[in-house]
Amino acid sequence: MPSTPWPRPVLAANWKMNLGPAEARQFMAAYLAQPPARHAGSMIIFPPAVSLVAARDAAAARPGIQFGAQNIYWEDKGAFTGEISAPLARAAGATCVLVGHSERRHVFGETDEETGRKCEAAARTGLTPVLCVGETLGQREAGETETVVLRQLRAGLARLTREQVAGALLAYEPVWAIGTGRTATPADASTTHAALRVAVGVILGDPHHGVPILYGGSVNPGNAAALLAAPGVDGLLVGGASLDPASWAAIAASGERPD
Ligand code: PGA
Repeated sequence: MPSTPWPRPVLAANWKMNLGPAEARQFMAAYLAQPPARHAGSMIIFPPAVSLVAARDAAAARPGIQFGAQNIYWEDKGAFTGEISAPLARAAGATCVLVGHSERRHVFGETDEETGRKCEAAARTGLTPVLCVGETLGQREAGETETVVLRQLRAGLARLTREQVAGALLAYEPVWAIGTGRTATPADASTTHAALRVAVGVILGDPHHGVPILYGGSVNPGNAAALLAAPGVDGLLVGGASLDPASWAAIAASGERPD
């Protein structure tokens, strides 16, 4: 698993259950037709698994773009109908995988224990796990944000070696902000990112570690720059606004830094 530092900002597009192979090719052609953002950091696109190869092939002209799977099962192969394994995702061109996205947790009942197994499978296969954590509205209102996200963090990383933790990515995605149009304020994001950063520092025995922490939840071209400017926000994980090439290009442009 590469533990090279990720150029900031890390901009990640989660297409969820949208864009089949032909649409993925069209998206990439339209996106790549626009001038590349200057100093754009890192970019990872998470298409549906059936579109991974098409999206990756269509982006061959821009080798800096990485692709990832939205989910994996922790066994490498066998009789697990409907699942894809880390080696299969890798064979299709994935370098990363989302683990514990809130829709996996809340729609499909994925547990903390399962996120730990998935991160372990990703890391042993050479895929970078992008572990997603986030509290529900009820948990936030009950003052439990930090307890919840730190529990999810520790469980997700529990089976990784220190080196593998150092090579992972994190995404803080408050459940109440995903797909709702309600975004955490940059200050909310900074507060939770700071708690996550300290907790990773404790695991690694290194408070100055370089594990990137992305923010996700109703990011759009209008709020991306302010979120990226928030202290401790190393990148963005974008759902709905990543499905349109122009909107995704505008978000990528908000990661530009002056020369
Ligand atoms: P959203 O989704 O940007 O549509 O809120 C973010 C995510 O779920 O990763």
